[in-house]
Formats: sequence, structure tokens, C-alpha cells
Amino acid sequence: MVSKILLPGIVFILTLAFGFWVSHVGKPYNGLLFNIHKLIALGAVVATVIQLAKLLKGADSLALIIVLIVVAALCVIALFASGALMSMDKLDYATMLTVHRVAPVVLVVATVIVIFMLKGA
Ligand code: HEM
Repeated sequence: MVSKILLPGIVFILTLAFGFWVSHVGKPYNGLLFNIHKLIALGAVVATVIQLAKLLKGADSLALIIVLIVVAALCVIALFASGALMSMDKLDYATMLTVHRVAPVVLVVATVIVIFMLKGA
């Protein structure tokens, strides 16, 4: 199990690290850091989806797991949308930053519950 979530986990932690770095440097965003943050985020999503697809086969309580995965997917959409809107200075920056700070927490909680539920699978 650990080996299966190791790669997505590391890529996600890198995403957070680059997120805080982009934030620390501030506006105007450093183009290189911003793009690395964005692309690693995409990589984390892809790596997670690949592992989840493998783990989901033969899982119990599939309905609850799917609800949690939908919550996690909505968080990912919120992160990509708020990240893009902050970089384009569209909508309210403070609101987008709050969304961008809350969504990773909800995402981690939902994902950790899914991982625990899949542990025996
Ligand atoms: C899995 C997806 C993502 C996660 C977990 C994530 C996480 C984070 C975190 C933790 C921060 C630091 C926020 C703070 O200072 O408290 C951040 C900043 C930022 N992220 Fe992301 N991010 C993700 C995807 C994206 C994407 C796709 C974009 C661009 C389209 C993006 C654009 C930004 C920007 C512009 C900042 C700087 C915000 C500011 O302080 O002005 N993020 N991200």
C-alpha cells in the first residue's frame, strides 16, 4: 500500500512546496515557479488517478468511496480554477486565495479516508 501511494504523495508534497514558494515570492508571480507549481499539480492528479484506478478494483463500500472521490475531484477543480483566476487577477483575489488554501486541506482529508478504506483492498 505504502509503495502505491508513495509517488503521488511525494508529487503532492512537491506541489504544496512550490505553492508556498510562489506565494512567498508574491505578485507578480515568478513565471518559472508558477508553471512548475501548475505542472507538478497536474502530475500529482495524474499519478493519483492512475493509482486509484488500480486500487478501486475489488474495493468494498464503493458508494462511499465514490462520494469521497467526487469531493476530492471538486477540490482539484477548485484548485485549478482558483489558481488560474489568481494568476489572471480575475474575480476577488482574497476569496480565490481562501479557496486555494482550504481546498488542499479538504482534498487531503478526503484522500486519506479513501486510502484507509482501500487499505485492505
Ligand atoms: C493539486 C493542486 C494544487 C495544490 C494542492 C495547490 C496548493 C497551493 C498552496 C498550498 C499554495 C500556497 C498558498 C498559501 O500561501 O497559503 C498555492 C499557491 C498558489 N497556487 Fe496552487 N495548488 C494547486 C494547483 C494550482 C494550479 C493548477 C494553479 C494555477 C493554475 C495554482 C496557482 C497558484 C498560485 C498563483 C499561488 C500563489 C497564490 C498567492 O499567494 O498569491 N495552483 N498553491
